[in-house]
Amino acid sequence: MAILITGGCGYIGSHTCIELCKAGYEVVALDNFHNAKPKVIERISALSGKPLTFYTCDIRDARGLSAIFEAHTVEAVIHFAGWKAVGESTVLPLEYYENNVSGTVTLLKVMRKFGCKRIVFSSSATVYGEENPSPLTEDMPVGKVANPYARTKLFNEHVIEDVCAADPDFCGMLLRYFNPIGAHESGTIGEDPNGIPNNLMPYIAQVAVGKLPYLQVFGNDYPTHDGTGIRDYIHVVDLARGHVAAVAYALSHTGAQVVNLGTGVGYSVLDVVTAFERVNQIPIPYKIVPRREGDVTIYLADPTKAKELLGWQAEHSLEDMCRDTWRWQQRNPNGYDDE
Ligand code: NAD
Ligand code: UD1
Repeated sequence: MAILITGGCGYIGSHTCIELCKAGYEVVALDNFHNAKPKVIERISALSGKPLTFYTCDIRDARGLSAIFEAHTVEAVIHFAGWKAVGESTVLPLEYYENNVSGTVTLLKVMRKFGCKRIVFSSSATVYGEENPSPLTEDMPVGKVANPYARTKLFNEHVIEDVCAADPDFCGMLLRYFNPIGAHESGTIGEDPNGIPNNLMPYIAQVAVGKLPYLQVFGNDYPTHDGTGIRDYIHVVDLARGHVAAVAYALSHTGAQVVNLGTGVGYSVLDVVTAFERVNQIPIPYKIVPRREGDVTIYLADPTKAKELLGWQAEHSLEDMCRDTWRWQQRNPNGYDDE
């Protein structure tokens, strides 16, 4: 009996492979390397203490997926595979709907063919949109989302809810992630963005390592303690463990469940910069620039449901996130392209 991880070579998928192996699950992973490097497979294998069972496969390829389900008895799927660049999704909406939504439909059809009735899906806090007040709870209305990427997450949530409604034996876990950062404490796997990072922590890490001259802080006129935006940053290893808890739940329950994966604690941009500087003893030069379009003042999880339903809560501190990010970046200044 195996757990299939789609997008298993990506940032969150790679950390989840390790935590699942540590928890004793048999792991089978697939990826099409759209946003990952094959080298991560050997790193996952080294950290798990055994070779990763891996297939190069695209989730839009029903035949390729079927071959994996024929070779393994897949008990549950953890579905990370998807594209995630917000800006790109506004330029390539059809490609985003095809990869993220059609890909998920293809995966679900193959699961149905093989009688696999458990899925844990990577949704995003972005589905709460800009109008709900923080802390965000799972029962808040969703729908007014800002871009095609966010809509693919929302559509997939609906698709999985509809599958659960049609089949009373099916279980769908819709996990809404807040802001995953950090890296495995070994410093051998981490986030490896293509080109100039869009997100805060990878940008800081590239400033720290000297690849970028300074951080642009997008606005210091928000109504927060220091004027910069507040987010709920969660260590990627805590997030990975949230998936272990979610898959355990899915194996013994039915129905659809929406669950926030966040800490419930918010930090501003300057809080993160200061923590990174203090923990790693490295100055991070920054300049205040105008607000980034589409940014909100504060985005925070209410993590109560995850604790009550899954018995899971985040354990790592912001300092851990800064230390582990820097260890990964320092040892791999060019990500997986370094030897
Ligand atoms: P990632 O890009 O590092 O990982 C996704 C992986 O999926 C990549 O390895 C990519 O090559 C693979 N992939 C993409 N399309 C595929 C396809 N058609 N077939 C097979 N493999 C495919 O991203 P991540 O940060 O690890 O995110 C994982 C999931 O979590 C994504 O669905 C993302 O939208 C979601 N998510 C991420 C964040 C975040 O901040 N990182 C936040 C909320 C939700
Ligand atoms: C981003 C994604 C969102 C996703 C979320 C979780 C975008 C536009 N949005 O949101 O879809 O669900 O991550 O992973 O990519 N900041 C700077 N300078 C920078 C980068 C960021 O000041 O160079 C600030 C931002 O204004 C924000 C905070 O840092 O206040 C966090 O930004 P970021 O890491 O991009 O995450 P989100 O905007 O929360």
